[in-house]
Order: sequence, then structure tokens, then C-alpha cells
Amino acid sequence: MDIKILNKTDLEWVLFIEDLCFGSRAWSREMLISHLGEFLGVGIKDLGYVLYKLAGDEIEIYRIAIHPIHQRQSKAKRLLEFLLNRERDKTFFLEVSSHNESAIGLYEACGFQKIHVRKHYYEDGSDALIYKKPPMDVLENFSFDIPS
Ligand SMILES: CC(C)(COP(=O)(O)OP(=O)(O)OC[C@H]1O[C@@H](n2cnc3c(N)ncnc32)[C@H](O)[C@@H]1OP(=O)(O)O)[C@@H](O)C(=O)NCCC(=O)NCCS
Repeated sequence: MDIKILNKTDLEWVLFIEDLCFGSRAWSREMLISHLGEFLGVGIKDLGYVLYKLAGDEIEIYRIAIHPIHQRQSKAKRLLEFLLNRERDKTFFLEVSSHNESAIGLYEACGFQKIHVRKHYYEDGSDALIYKKPPMDVLENFSFDIPS
């Protein structure tokens, strides 16, 4: 999987997937362009992306989307883990609707923990769940290979 740091040349395919994944809630071209200076992104061309903001030692994830025909193949998990590893000293935050089972499953599979609930936050009446992932423990991915 060829994960890249997004730049303005990625705008067209990001908009295409944005539309496929979010429909009427998709971010428009104008909105994305106006935020290009503040958002950072990682993605796999034509397949999916994560958009986030970096502020000091904190990262807030705003968007994660995988093209529908490539979903449930662990692609979002690999993309998110790539970002978590790349920014391993940062604390991550995100907000998700309590109705979004796939995203909740993804975040929990990646080690995010629910820290707060905003009741009936969204227009459809769903709650906003706030998730956090602290900086990666230096030993998190470490294992001793004990010689026999
Ligand atoms: C959320 C989203 C990015 C997940 O992408 P994905 O590539 O299908 O996710 P993965 O295959 O990496 O799944 C990783 C884990 O997340 C969970 N998960 C993913 N989809 C799920 C679903 N439909 N139901 C329940 N759990 C799900 C599972 O734990 C899964 O691990 P498993 O497949 O080993 O069981 C994708 O569904 C999507 O683009 N949705 C529309 C956009 C959106 O709502 N984004 C989030 C808010 S910004």
C-alpha cells in the first residue's frame, strides 16, 4: 500500500471519495481549498485518506474515508496506524457520531478510548463521542526475541 503525504495535487480524488463516502455531508471544493493551509493529510491515491490538524503536541482527526469498494479490507486501519506511528509523540483526538458503527469499530481497533459523550449533538439526534489516544508508549510495539 503506497501511503503518501497529501498535497494540493490530491484534491480531485479526495473530493471524489469525499462525495462517495459522505454524500450530502461531503466537504465542498471551496471548503477544502479554504482549509488547505490548516489541514494535513495522509492517503492512498484514489483509495482513501485521513485529514487532520496539528496543534502543538495534539492532533485532531477530522476526516477518514475509504472508497466504498475498498472498505473492510483493513485499509483504514493501516492508514490510521501509519499516522499514529508517524506522529507517535502526539496525543490524538477525534469526534464521531454514535451511529457510525464502522468508524467507532475502527477507532477502537486502533486503540482510541472514549473520553466524553455529547448527548444529541448531531442533527439526526445521535450523540457525539469524543475519543482520545495518548502518545504511543515507546514499548508498545517492542518485543524481546528471546533466543532458545
Ligand atoms: C470508517 C471507514 C473509514 C472504515 O474503513 P475500512 O477500510 O472499511 O476499515 P477497516 O477495514 O480498516 O476496518 C478496521 C476495523 O474497523 C472496524 N470496522 C470497519 N468497518 C466496520 C463496520 N462496517 N462495522 C463494524 N466495524 C467495522 C472493525 O473492527 C475492523 O476490523 P476487522 O475488519 O478486523 O473487523 C469507512 O467505513 C468509511 O470510509 N466510512 C465512510 C466515511 C466515514 O464515516 N468516516 C468516519 C467519520 S469522518
